[in-house]
Amino acid sequence: MPKLTFLGHACFLLEEEGKETLVFDPFLRENPQATRKPEDLKVSYILVSHAHFDHMGDAYEIAKANQATIISISEISSDAQEKGLSAHPLNIGGKFNFPFGWVKLTLAFHGSGIAGGHACGFVVNYHGKNIYFAGDTGLFSDMKLIGELTPLDIALLPIGDNYTMGIDDAVHAASFLGAKLVVPYHYNTWPLVEADPQEFRKKVEDKTGSRCLVIAPGESHSF
Ligand code: NI
Ligand code: MN
Repeated sequence: MPKLTFLGHACFLLEEEGKETLVFDPFLRENPQATRKPEDLKVSYILVSHAHFDHMGDAYEIAKANQATIISISEISSDAQEKGLSAHPLNIGGKFNFPFGWVKLTLAFHGSGIAGGHACGFVVNYHGKNIYFAGDTGLFSDMKLIGELTPLDIALLPIGDNYTMGIDDAVHAASFLGAKLVVPYHYNTWPLVEADPQEFRKKVEDKTGSRCLVIAPGESHSF
């Protein structure tokens, strides 16, 4: 059974016993919510949604220590390769098969943090389960297409407002996506992104067909 662990802010681990471990947006050392240090992670793949510090975080350090492959937008992947790291470049709408399944890059309406790049989200097929990680983004109605094209087991959505969707827009996102389970992130890291995840949970379960699970930093959910 795959296991999803929230490491605080926008960082998630996706793993299954005896299989590849993936980490999303590994921001740990400077992350007030983090319950793990970058040197404690044993991962094969690092997915980076954009180059802002709270997402790129410790990606290069972890890639180097684990000889892991960074999966990101072309500009970030090229930068990583220039620094001697392993990286796979993708661009919006593109999909590639990896040993664990596949990764498809989606739109994200947000700054890229790197010249010429785009911020992105990811749809990940991990050993048969489909997970959407929205990255940092505002609400957009094409999220409907993401859910139509790939039936989602889990949708990971930012709810902290200010830099991304807030709670009410993220509830719309959840209704567009139609995932079995919705998990919030990007909240309560700092005062600017304060949000009540239980308010989000209640609204998702009242207004959409999805279940919502609030995962505390350091906690896991098997699915
Ligand atoms: Ni950002
Ligand atoms: Mn962010």
